[in-house]
Amino acid sequence: MSNFQKSFFGNRKQIVLLSTGFVENCPRFSYNKTPAFAEEAKGRLNFPKSFFWGSSTSSHQVEGGTHNDWTEWERVTAKLKVENAKLRGWPDYILHKYPNPLQEENYISGKACGHYHRFREDFDIARSLGHNAHRFSIEWSRIEPEEGKFDEKEIEHYRQVIRALRERGIEPFITLWHWTHPVWFAKRGGWLAKDAQIYFSRFCKRMGEEFKDEVQYWIILNEPMLWATDAYRLGKKPPMAQSVFKFLKAYVQLVRAHRNAAAALKDINKDFHIGIAESMNDMLFPALLKPFVHYFRNLLFISLVKNRLDFIGVNYYRPFRFRFQKPLHISDMGWEIYPEGMCHLLKDLKKYCKPIFIMENGIADARDAKRADFIKSHIAMMQRAMNEGVDVRGYFYWSLFDNFEWDSGFWPRFGLVEIDYQTLKRRIRPSAYEYKKIIEESKS
Ligand code: BGC
Repeated sequence: MSNFQKSFFGNRKQIVLLSTGFVENCPRFSYNKTPAFAEEAKGRLNFPKSFFWGSSTSSHQVEGGTHNDWTEWERVTAKLKVENAKLRGWPDYILHKYPNPLQEENYISGKACGHYHRFREDFDIARSLGHNAHRFSIEWSRIEPEEGKFDEKEIEHYRQVIRALRERGIEPFITLWHWTHPVWFAKRGGWLAKDAQIYFSRFCKRMGEEFKDEVQYWIILNEPMLWATDAYRLGKKPPMAQSVFKFLKAYVQLVRAHRNAAAALKDINKDFHIGIAESMNDMLFPALLKPFVHYFRNLLFISLVKNRLDFIGVNYYRPFRFRFQKPLHISDMGWEIYPEGMCHLLKDLKKYCKPIFIMENGIADARDAKRADFIKSHIAMMQRAMNEGVDVRGYFYWSLFDNFEWDSGFWPRFGLVEIDYQTLKRRIRPSAYEYKKIIEESKS
């Protein structure tokens, strides 16, 4: 490692991989057989005409050709990740794909899905699948590659992206921070620097001014709690510094960043819809512990910024269990499938009296064996919460296509559309058509 790399990431020898174990031949997950939501699933879907149906992506995970703190980190950690991956068993259906977890290329985002150049083709696919909304992030490191120097060409690029969506009747939802930072920002200390949020607000303000006539929905931060935990507690994301003090500092800075950026955006247009996408897990904990962990993990950040939120975005994938019990249904990443959790969380969020969007919900499923049922059952649970008075306005599947799953790399396959990473060919998976049917049914 160079001195810069050492000061940037520390000199750690070990990287903790996010990826977990597998259960081969686990029972096929079927929502129809699960009594808890069979009722909703059988009945007709009942969604308002204005409901947003779509999918989410983030710049670093799909665009390709980015240069930010993550790309630096990927280069210096790829070898170690391969070594770590060798310590565990992998099923053939993962090892047969390119790239697989035992290859260094798996951990380098590189050209990713090539979405930067193929966005029109990709939005044609989204439209053909019935989507009327799409969430994506603007890559700060492209817009402001050097401190204070805004790149007009890149601003124009995102203008074209937004227009391409609008031309296809797809509402753009823009995320302004999805975990990546310009290298200059990271070198200044990232979120630990005193003035970090001033730089971030300046970027957000510029984006608000540029796209004020084209964009209504803004998600300032994606999963601040999870990111701060992974970056400063678990050491799973750059800058990989494990310290409670740094974690708290970054967390407080992100709260400030949201507040300032929200104020800056509202100054541009008071009718902008400002939100957040927060990662939430249903906490299957004993009654005494549950309220505490639920509040700290799922609600604290939202409570701290609620006065500057027009809507709440929920990213729901799985529950957390107090004790390890082997779940019956899991994804390729070993994440438990538990649709009821979405309903529990939505019902609890009702107390904030804000519109809610499911901003991410998805499954890593390379064989596409469980995805259709996963989507149906979670939508059924969302419907149940809506029937009980929760104001949900949209559902975004994660993700439109397979993409670069951060420290796990390319092997987890979340996409409605499969990517062949050698040719960048897109292939629509059968589950994407099942999702399309739901969308169509909800409108009929
Ligand atoms: C993140 C995405 C990620 C997804 C699946 C969310 O926590 O916002 O970037 O790919 O989960 O792990």
